Amino acid sequence: MAFALPVWLAVQEELLGHGEVDCGPPSCFDEFEDEALFQMFHLTRPCISFITDAARIRMKNVALKKPGLSVDSMLMVALNYYAHGVSSAPVLQKVGLSQTECYSVIGTVSGVIAGMSDQFISFPLIQQARANVAFKIEKLCGIPNVLGVLAPAHFKIRASPYEKDTFRSFVNTLGYTSVVSQIISDSDGNILSVEKCCVGSTFEQEMWDSSFKGREMEEDLHGPFWVIGGKGYHLSKHVLTPVSEPTNDSEVRFNEAHAKIHNVMRTTLGSMKRRFRCLMQLGFAQEGSLDKKSNIIKACCVLHNIAKKFSDPPPPVAGKIEPLLPGKQHSVAVEINTEALKARQELIFKNFSAVSSSQDPPSTGITEEDM
Ligand SMILES: *[C@@H]1O[C@H](CO)[C@@H](O)[C@H](O)[C@H]1NC(C)=O
Ligand SMILES: *[C@@H]1O[C@H](CO)[C@@H](O)[C@H](O)[C@H]1NC(C)=O
Repeated sequence: MAFALPVWLAVQEELLGHGEVDCGPPSCFDEFEDEALFQMFHLTRPCISFITDAARIRMKNVALKKPGLSVDSMLMVALNYYAHGVSSAPVLQKVGLSQTECYSVIGTVSGVIAGMSDQFISFPLIQQARANVAFKIEKLCGIPNVLGVLAPAHFKIRASPYEKDTFRSFVNTLGYTSVVSQIISDSDGNILSVEKCCVGSTFEQEMWDSSFKGREMEEDLHGPFWVIGGKGYHLSKHVLTPVSEPTNDSEVRFNEAHAKIHNVMRTTLGSMKRRFRCLMQLGFAQEGSLDKKSNIIKACCVLHNIAKKFSDPPPPVAGKIEPLLPGKQHSVAVEINTEALKARQELIFKNFSAVSSSQDPPSTGITEEDM
């Protein structure tokens, strides 16, 4: 359960009550048949009306550049852009905006939806919530005391090749230009935390060290829990990395379990990019002005979590899901955290030294289809 209880109840009320209760004023989404609606926004009608209601309250306080445009129309433009990476002609026609005008609308709406992350993206803070998240992860992979999967999420952007230094700063380890955010998810693919929007060449360890979540966890504010991190992270008291050169079966089994839970992130990002195709290519970026990209990324994370609560299926797979980036590692040798190494060894000894039935269950995890 990633959501605070009141939020979840509100979602549930919406799910149960939809259709019977007063749905508010007629919305410009009403004119679309269900199928067309899904094609255009990659979200179902109940989910869209929940989003519009949640956003409407917050949009009241936003100064609009184009007065007269209804909240629904603005949302329609933005949701259509998230789903396809462009604004489609029928939507522009319907709301009466030019291509240029719609960029500022998308910017405004993204800021508002990104601002909803305090409500819809929540790291487990109370004991019961932590226990729930850790329990599910342990059930999936056999590693106890884990609060989530940590990874850098790269999103393609365009950068001007004429500004050589800037361009280079955006090039990531896979060789394309991107911005990168730090994401933590649970074992069901709900986003628990999203922070930062850096140039693609940024080391994920640096992001972790300077992130709020990273600092809180390393200062023990979240209790004796780990997050699962890939090879690009340093093993620490709270970041559990795989064994780089496993020497026996226990370590191999641990690495397999680690890979299994780590893979959830790949599936999650894949499903997000399928639903919100704008994330496949976020457009031009300049170093130092990444706020807009950051808002779009956060907005898509908020909408992803809401869509999951409504069990909205993502659109079908088109092409292959991108692999997670191989971790970017500092070439300088890092000092090994002996305390953390000992803790990992203990965990491997306690939970992976014997083949247990729980370590290789029939895959109960999420698959690409039901994300
Ligand atoms: C891991 O080890 C601890 C301590 O021995 C035990 O309580 C827990 O049940 C084990 N979990 C799994 C999944 O093996
Ligand atoms: C596996 O190797 C590690 C590292 O060399 C060692 O600490 C651990 O005791 C070994 N475990 C077993 C079961 O041999």
